[in-house]
Amino acid sequence: MKFQPNVPKKAVKTKFIEGSLSRFDGKTLSVGYGTTKPLSRRKFVLLMRKVISLAKQNKVDTIAVGYKDIKSFAPTEFSDYEVGKIAGTAFVMADYEYTTYKSKPKDGFVRVQTVAIPNTPKAGKEGFWHGEVIATEINACRELANTPGSDMTPVLLADAARKAARGTKVEVSSLGRTEMEALGMGALLGVAKGSPEEPQLIVMEYKGGNPKQKPIVLVGKGVTFDTGGLQIKPGDHMYEMHMDMSGGAAVIHAVALAAKLKIKANVVGIIPSVENAASGSAMRPGDILTSLSGKTIEVLHTDAEGRLILADALTYAKRFKPALVADAATLTGAALITLGEQASAFMTNREEQIPEFMQLGEESGDYLWPLPLWEEYDYILRSSFADMANIPSSGNSRYAGTIGGGKFLEAFAKELNCPWIHVDMAPKMTSNPEEFLAKGAAGAPVRFFLALIQKHAQK
Ligand code: BES
Ligand code: MN
Ligand code: ZN
Repeated sequence: MKFQPNVPKKAVKTKFIEGSLSRFDGKTLSVGYGTTKPLSRRKFVLLMRKVISLAKQNKVDTIAVGYKDIKSFAPTEFSDYEVGKIAGTAFVMADYEYTTYKSKPKDGFVRVQTVAIPNTPKAGKEGFWHGEVIATEINACRELANTPGSDMTPVLLADAARKAARGTKVEVSSLGRTEMEALGMGALLGVAKGSPEEPQLIVMEYKGGNPKQKPIVLVGKGVTFDTGGLQIKPGDHMYEMHMDMSGGAAVIHAVALAAKLKIKANVVGIIPSVENAASGSAMRPGDILTSLSGKTIEVLHTDAEGRLILADALTYAKRFKPALVADAATLTGAALITLGEQASAFMTNREEQIPEFMQLGEESGDYLWPLPLWEEYDYILRSSFADMANIPSSGNSRYAGTIGGGKFLEAFAKELNCPWIHVDMAPKMTSNPEEFLAKGAAGAPVRFFLALIQKHAQK
C-alpha cells in the first residue's frame, strides 16, 4: 500500500456518513462512522481500518480520503503527526491477509494499492510514513506467526530473524543444542527433547543508543508448535498452536522496527525456540529439569512448556545487564478465559508502574490489563521433589492459571534486579471478529514493545 497526496483518476472517493451502515455505489465509498464525532482513540483506529476493509470487500484498490475528514474523527488532542501515524498504521494493518499458501486468483488478491490523502500537512505526512513502517513490520510479524508449524521450525525462525534484520544495524546470532547443553539450559532442552527439530536460542542486538546505556531486553516465547507434549492437547485445542511462537515473532519484528526507525536506544531480543512434541524421547510428567539458573523444576505438566523455555531465556538475559526486561508469550489459555480476545494480561515486579504500562498499552493499541503477583500465590510453585514445579500440585490446578505462569517467571526475573513485565498475549494471538483485521495472527504486542523502547530512549 502506498500513500500519496495526488488523487489518481480511477480513485474511489471515500466519505463518512452518520449511522452504522456503509455502502458503495460504484463511485463513492460511504463509510458509516456512528453517531458522534470526534471519536475515542480506540474507535478512531477501528474507523480507519473499516475504510480499508470496505474497500477490499468491494474490490476497490485505489481510494481517496481527505486529510481533513480523517482528522475530524481523531481525538481533538491528536497532533497531525499522531493522526497520520495512527491512521497510516490502521490502513496498512487492515490491508494484510494471509494468502501465502493460496493459489493466486486471475485478478490477483484483493489489496488496496493506493490511498490518496490530499491536503496532508508535513507533520501528518511524516506520521503516515512512520505508520506505514510500523504496520509493515507488524504484518511481517503476523506472516511469521501464521506460517504452519512444518514451515516455521526453530531453525527457520532463526532464519526469519536474520531476514528481518537484513539491511539494518541489528546483529543476529543463535545458539543450537550443543551450545545450550554446554551452558546448562536444562529447562529449554527438556522441552526440546521430544522433537527432531533442533532448538534455537535466537539473540538480536540493536545498539542505537549510547554504549553506556543499559539495554531494554525483550524476550518472546518461540514454541513453533505446541502439541502439549506427552500430556497431549485434545484435538480441537491443538488447532492454531503453530502460533505459539507469536511472542517470539513480536520480539523479532520489534527489534527490527527499532532499528528501522533509528530509535536511540539499545535493545536486545531473546527468542527461545523449540517444538513441544510428543514422542518416545519427550520429557515425562515427573521429570526434573535443571534450569540455567541452577534451580530444579519438577515437570508436573508437559503442556506448561512456555514457562520452562522462558525461564532459561530470562536467566540468559542477565548477561546483558538490562535496564528493563519485557517478555511476551502465548502462555495460558486461562488468559483468554479471563479477558476474552480484547486485551493481553500483564504482570510486573514493579506494582507502582502498572498505570504506566497500562497507558503505554492503551496509546500503542496493544491493550493490556494487570493481574497480581501477590505472595499469597507462592503456593503455586511448591514442589515435593524439586525447587519448584511448573503447575500447582496442591489445590485446584486450574485456579489462577495466568497468575501461575507469571509467578513461575517471576522467580527467574527476580535475579535480574530490574523492572520486569510479563505479557500473557494468548488473548491477542489471533484477531477478533470486531477489529477489522484479517483472520489469523494479530501482530501483538509489537506496538507495545515499540512504545516501551521509545520511552526507554527518552531517558
Ligand atoms: N500455548 C499454550 C497456551 C495457549 C492456549 C495459547 C490457547 C493460546 C491459545 C500453553 O503452552 C499451554 O498449553 N498452557 C496450558 C498451561 C497449563 C497446563 C497450566 C494451558 O493453558 O492449558
Ligand atoms: Mn502448552
Ligand atoms: Zn504453549
